[in-house]
Amino acid sequence: MTVKQTTSTVTSVINGSRDVAPTDRVIEARNPSDLEEVLAEIRLATPEGFAQACRAARDGQPQWAATPAPGRGEVIANVAHLVRENKDELAAYMTREVGKTTAEALGEVQEVIDTCEFFLGEGRRLYGMTVPSEMPDKQLMTFRMPVGVVAVITAGNFPTAVPSWYMVPALLCGNTVVWKPADYAGATAQAMAELFWHAGVPAEVLHLVQADGESTFRGLELALDQGTVDKVGFTGSTDVGRRIGALCGAHLQSPCLELGGKNPLVVTRDADLDLAVEGALFSGFGTAGQRCTSLGTVIADEAVHDDYLERFVAATERAPIGDPTEDVLYGPMMHERFLERFEDRWLGLIEGHHAVHGSQGVGRITAQNPRRGFVGEDPERGLFVHPTIVSGVRADDELANTETFGPIVGVASFGGWDEAMALANGHGYGLSAAIYTENPRTAFRFREAVSSGMVSINNSTSGAEAHLPFGGNGKSGNGSRQSGVWVLEQFTRWQSVNWDYAGQLQKAQMDVAQVEADRDFRL
Ligand code: UN1
Repeated sequence: MTVKQTTSTVTSVINGSRDVAPTDRVIEARNPSDLEEVLAEIRLATPEGFAQACRAARDGQPQWAATPAPGRGEVIANVAHLVRENKDELAAYMTREVGKTTAEALGEVQEVIDTCEFFLGEGRRLYGMTVPSEMPDKQLMTFRMPVGVVAVITAGNFPTAVPSWYMVPALLCGNTVVWKPADYAGATAQAMAELFWHAGVPAEVLHLVQADGESTFRGLELALDQGTVDKVGFTGSTDVGRRIGALCGAHLQSPCLELGGKNPLVVTRDADLDLAVEGALFSGFGTAGQRCTSLGTVIADEAVHDDYLERFVAATERAPIGDPTEDVLYGPMMHERFLERFEDRWLGLIEGHHAVHGSQGVGRITAQNPRRGFVGEDPERGLFVHPTIVSGVRADDELANTETFGPIVGVASFGGWDEAMALANGHGYGLSAAIYTENPRTAFRFREAVSSGMVSINNSTSGAEAHLPFGGNGKSGNGSRQSGVWVLEQFTRWQSVNWDYAGQLQKAQMDVAQVEADRDFRL
């Protein structure tokens, strides 16, 4: 394959120095829309490299914690400023490295800015409480303490927004951070980290480690053994989340886990069908179906199922797909590994009782397997795949119960409410769920019965705002929540203080004045 250009070398950065972490492998970052374009060479660190970064973060933490929180908030304000000023460039990195459409990439960078703007003010709050004591001359109060060193391990489907959900509040709260981005999004990560450092985040406070998954896991084991990690934030697959959860649990730590989903979208008989089609298109196929919040299965009332399916199929057939710098529904798969998994595993879940719709073909778009209206010159230069709608899905199908990371959406029909809820909850995930209905009673019944951490009413399963709790239940996480004030529970620990100025020992529960009362009194 001809190589167009090598733009840069991406490395781990520890205490501001490149190439100090031992490296065991070098990979190329290629543009998934045009595989001939090499964006960067990425040097991947060994497990010891990861552990080294954690030791550096441990050393940097006391001084950062001693920086007054409003001062840390000022740094976050600078991050917001620099990200805004570099919005187009950062979005362009993302489009070139993971193939996110320009519109979505700009939206994602906006989410980083929103996150910074929410938390910069938190530097002037980080409230504790004053609490009354049961005794005189005694005060009770609470303080939020940083947890220490936070290891942030993120996927590449949201290579800037999701890391910011961890890094911005973790830094604001006085923690130091070791960030290990996805190896297929390393160049975007380096660009983002540069913005943090230039905004005034000290080199001793934010360290970047480029590594593959297995070295990261072994590095994390080392770091936990060495006592240099106090909290792990992980966004990725349920399987890896389980391994990280078990590892952290053995060290009495509870990680912040944001895992996969099989997100349902219920279409009731009173739904606005066109609105529900728009929602399914965006959440099923946006980011080529590679969001944690991507739509898994449409669950349509049998009274409207055929009508809905027809409209959804027509809209999908019409949707422009291709070059992510153009106005398209989605671009390429992020990386070859996701294309392979899509073709080998997820398309393999289609069974004989299913029907397939949405495009002229299934699988990779090529000259032999073309997509009508493909946007761009030659689909074979990139990792483009057909959108696939699979109807006739039943509750016990593997397709209804497996997260399928890619542009494939199942459609099932239901007769009664219990059947709809069994389809919506039966897979055991619980990240995001949507219902389209004009009936408030149905919307509230759904909210109560659905197992997910996030619920949309007349809106798609994707598109969470940056200041609401984000996270899931069951196979989607361990109950932790990111974003908004809720994430502060992840990155701080409560310290409770009692201050007795009575000048004599007052024993709680024992030296408490008794209240006199005539409890038998009756009028
Ligand atoms: C993810 O897929 O991990 O709600 C994050 C959304 C985005 C974030 C998704 N704002 O779809």
